[in-house]
Amino acid sequence: MTLPGAPWLARAGNELWLDGCQLDALASKFGTPLYVYSRRAMVESAMAYQRALTGRAHLVCYAMKANSTLAVLQTFAAMGCGFDIVSGGELERVLAAGGDAAKVVFSGVGKKRSEMRQALEAGVACFNVESEGELEVLSEVALAAGKTAAVSLRVNPDVDAGTHPYISTGLKGNKFGIAHDRAVATYRRAVALPALQVVGIDCHIGSQITQIEPYLDALDRLLDLVEEVEAAGIPIHHVDVGGGLGITYTDEAPPDAEVLVSMLLARFDARGHGHRKILLEPGRSLVGNAGVLVTEVLYLKPGEAKNFCIVDAAMNDLMRPALYEAFMRIEPCQARDLMPLTWDIVGPVCESGDWIGRERRLAIAPGDRLAVLSAGAYGMSMASNYNSRARAAEVMVDDGHATLIREREAVASLFSGEILLGT
Ligand code: LLP
Repeated sequence: MTLPGAPWLARAGNELWLDGCQLDALASKFGTPLYVYSRRAMVESAMAYQRALTGRAHLVCYAMKANSTLAVLQTFAAMGCGFDIVSGGELERVLAAGGDAAKVVFSGVGKKRSEMRQALEAGVACFNVESEGELEVLSEVALAAGKTAAVSLRVNPDVDAGTHPYISTGLKGNKFGIAHDRAVATYRRAVALPALQVVGIDCHIGSQITQIEPYLDALDRLLDLVEEVEAAGIPIHHVDVGGGLGITYTDEAPPDAEVLVSMLLARFDARGHGHRKILLEPGRSLVGNAGVLVTEVLYLKPGEAKNFCIVDAAMNDLMRPALYEAFMRIEPCQARDLMPLTWDIVGPVCESGDWIGRERRLAIAPGDRLAVLSAGAYGMSMASNYNSRARAAEVMVDDGHATLIREREAVASLFSGEILLGT
């Protein structure tokens, strides 16, 4: 049996397997909590985008905020992907993983001067500029550094992507992007400023999007602007449609990446823009269903109002349920012949918000391992050290072979930079 949305995850007999590796055996070998990713699942997901873009000038820039572990970046770099970064820290990671700075786009509303300098020094492909203020500062920084900054303006197309309010980004009320009706004026400003070169336009309308229409609406808005800006004598080389394609956590049915991309290409063609270089910034859809978080059941605490299953992973390891009330499937790593009961799966952190799943029917006993599915995106990359909990280890599996790609964090390293007051 395979599980919905996670083609490399399968139950055979009593055991849950990820691409030829038994998750329970990995938990015994590497300890828990443990993130486990399938390399093949990541490669397949990226290939779906690349296949659909064959024959077009394009760059798939993995939005690495979804999972910025070096071995994950290395996997995508080896496939020729670029990266969408949002900080100087992410740029350092790309370089450490062997990624090519010339394939990096730098997004984000709050780039610091130091980060701009660092990105110019590394030679990133372009800055996705999100405000007029940022444009002025970028010009100053590039001029002082004796460099030219390639600029794409992130435009806020004001379309509703129909996602959770915390992860919708393309509405007027969001902090992101330059308002559509300010865009032409801002392009004019960009060409008037020194040390800038306009190369593109971009948008990103949200995350966990399960419909194609919002993308087509946003693309139409972008292409309207491209036409206006070019009519003003400013050439636009690439169009970056952003990321945001959703995955299946439970019963969502997002379009396949190939279907989405072919619909976008058809719209480019229909509007006479088929020759343009196309950039995409997918994050979640490349890694989300490639990963699981394996955790061990510590205690079962049946009660009058609720039954609690206390596990060794917590909101610091996987923040999505606590932060967005996100639903993530939970499966036992070894099926048991026990009476299933309804459990709230909670972690050891001292907050009632520290839960991983609510009201799940599970047949479990202390010492069992559970797998939280679809945890490859925004899991480890959002992990914290709250309650002085060291972060989990990570393993990459590939056709029956497992490789440790991040050691479990040592507690001593949590306070190694701290300084006691002098006496
Ligand atoms: N490009 C930009 C400019 C972005 O802000 C994002 C995500 C992406 C690309 C990638 O979007 P994706 O393909 O992963 O949907 N922590 C939240 C998701 C936050 C997304 C923020 N921006 C979650 O766990 O659901």
